[in-house]
Amino acid sequence: MKKVTKAVIPAAGFGTRFLPITKSVCKEMLPIVDKPTLQYIIEEAVQSGITDILIVTGRNKKILEDFFDYTPELDALLEQDNKIKLLKISKEIEKMVNLYFVRQKHPCGFANALQYAKAFTGDEPFAILLGDDIIYTDSNTKPVTQQLIENYYKYQKPTLALMEVDDKDINKYANIKARKTDGKSCDIALIVEKPKAENKFSNYAVIGRYIVESDIYNLIDNLKPSETGETFFTEALQALAKENRLTGYQFAGKRYDAGDKLEYLIANVEYALRDFNLQKEFTNYLKNLVAKL
Ligand code: G1P
Repeated sequence: MKKVTKAVIPAAGFGTRFLPITKSVCKEMLPIVDKPTLQYIIEEAVQSGITDILIVTGRNKKILEDFFDYTPELDALLEQDNKIKLLKISKEIEKMVNLYFVRQKHPCGFANALQYAKAFTGDEPFAILLGDDIIYTDSNTKPVTQQLIENYYKYQKPTLALMEVDDKDINKYANIKARKTDGKSCDIALIVEKPKAENKFSNYAVIGRYIVESDIYNLIDNLKPSETGETFFTEALQALAKENRLTGYQFAGKRYDAGDKLEYLIANVEYALRDFNLQKEFTNYLKNLVAKL
């Protein structure tokens, strides 16, 4: 079975939920503590064994390429001032992984963005990571993309990430009906994009991590576009489910929707509380703040 070493990250969206900042700073660069959200996604992929990543960008996203590039002036200054720790942080970013960029010409959705990855992935299986889904795993837990890759090797079928949600959140995610379950894994019989809670198949929501094979491109090509011209990735997944070739995996990890203002703030607080250098003072600050409420 071919190994999963490539990943695709669609990052062409406008990030309108974060206006006005997204007028000039793209949402993938918004920080959680001191790292852009995209860096968390890339680190998860790298820690899962991914060696090559294609980022599908759009206009106004040049800042992303610059961030992951070599920064000679900054590095020379840090070296001159003997700021070795900071120099290490700067250099690690440039060496992290092989990154490739392609621009989606018209921002018409995730399924269309994926078509730009065809030449990059060739006939290999690959991971897809959506940038709004930040998933924290502690040091005893494998990164989520790795959990999915292992599920893919075990069942030899495309795999997606599943998380249980409350009824009030059903309409935010793709929703699945399992054919049969085996521990944390299940065979998926049906999948539908963002149903109303009263039409749900289950309380399992699809979170933005997928392992797919190269036939996904044909499945997308065969989809009928909606009235707005958009095709929906979930419909390509439904075609796989119909052929009994789709599995889901209930991952371990804490997921934040970095595309939602409240969850983005929560992510910042919780990551800051996990940061050794901030932990103590920030905890004291929060305790005092809460006491005054
Ligand atoms: C996308 C997918 C949806 C999935 C969700 C996970 O929706 O279309 O199927 O459940 O990501 O975060 P979006 O959040 O981009 O609207």
